[in-house]
Amino acid sequence: MRILAIETSCDETAIAIAEFSGSQKNPKIKILSNIVSSQVKLHAHYGGVVPNLAKREHQRNLVPILMKALKESGISKKYSSSPSKLPRINSIEKIQKESSRQARTIKTIGQILERESELLKHVEKKILPLKVSAIDAIAVTYGPGLAPALWVGVNFAKALSYLWKKPLIPVNHMAGHLYSAFLQKNKAESYQLLVTSYPALALLVSGGHTELVLMKSHGNFKVVGETLDDAAGEAFDKVARILGFSYPGGPLISALTEMKFKDLKFKVTLPRPMINTKDSNFSFSGLKTAVLYLWRDIKHTQSAKIAVAKEFQDAVVEVLVRKTIDAAKKYKIKTILLGGGVSANSLLRKNLLQSIEKEMPETGYLLPVTSMTGDNALMIVLAAFFAGKKMAWNKVGADANLRL
Ligand code: KG4
Ligand code: ZN
Repeated sequence: MRILAIETSCDETAIAIAEFSGSQKNPKIKILSNIVSSQVKLHAHYGGVVPNLAKREHQRNLVPILMKALKESGISKKYSSSPSKLPRINSIEKIQKESSRQARTIKTIGQILERESELLKHVEKKILPLKVSAIDAIAVTYGPGLAPALWVGVNFAKALSYLWKKPLIPVNHMAGHLYSAFLQKNKAESYQLLVTSYPALALLVSGGHTELVLMKSHGNFKVVGETLDDAAGEAFDKVARILGFSYPGGPLISALTEMKFKDLKFKVTLPRPMINTKDSNFSFSGLKTAVLYLWRDIKHTQSAKIAVAKEFQDAVVEVLVRKTIDAAKKYKIKTILLGGGVSANSLLRKNLLQSIEKEMPETGYLLPVTSMTGDNALMIVLAAFFAGKKMAWNKVGADANLRL
């Protein structure tokens, strides 16, 4: 089973191809290609992701990345790169039949990519002449995310599905983040898929979402808690901006707090919102506002900046860890999973581990390798393999507000 996946929900254009063997209970994975092209520098100028710029970049990037992924994956030998030859023509009827087949194909591709005219040009030039048979299914992120960005990936996947006559597997981006924790590096530095004991609980923390997801089996997800306002990553980015850092500020706050500074005299205390509520929900907007007012009223020394960044990160991590452990106890969880951009945060990774070891030592803990914490298409391949449903290309559309 070979799956090619496309991810364009936000500001990364990503394509991955992987091959699975063995049973679904004990699968083996071979990663053939995993390419992520980030637009982060472009959006940094505007202090956040600009949806229409993201759309334009995805249109430019997708075809070159696909060509590279096919080449890298070694399946390039299995497709013919020469323009598809006309069948041996020995009658005028055959010529007419073939020419109307080609016209139909071009017309349908034009309709699918009607709103992505730049991508259409690349597809006509580079993809139409290809014949790809060594792929079994095409997976694509269809939500949640930025609508214009999502549609580029979805329409591109639909065009490929139609052209190559392969089924399409629509994947929820958050399911992708969840499954990223299943992929682990083994001692030989190659990747293996770990089998999880259920029920599992996933803490998914990204720029757009913060949720606790109860998972009873593959594809069986229930959101048991979520943020009532800002997502954790969003709070990191907003606080970083208040402190004068560029977008995205999460990694910068995290890097700053890891540096060693001598004699930090400044002391500051911030709230831990909703840490003691009985539900599993979160709220980070008040914490961000607390930083805003605090920063307005104090002198902007280096020591103050570091102290505020550290205390903010401590507050977010403490709430995330406490609520995850409480929910894990409530639902008698056997494995805790971590995923999403904020799962790159080393304090979160470490503190969650420590709390699990201390309070629930029998519980498993799976977290993604750091190269898989941000948006990528390999996680979409995994979610498609474990929990995806094959569909006809004309039945799939993007859904910016999709829920798990
Ligand atoms: O999952 P992701 O790459 O994109 C979305 O689906 O939103 O998450 C991006 C978010 C950004 O808000 C970014 O600031 C945050 O993840 N992030 C971090 C760290 N690395 C990325 N937040 C805290 N610490 C980090 N090390
Ligand atoms: Zn994401």
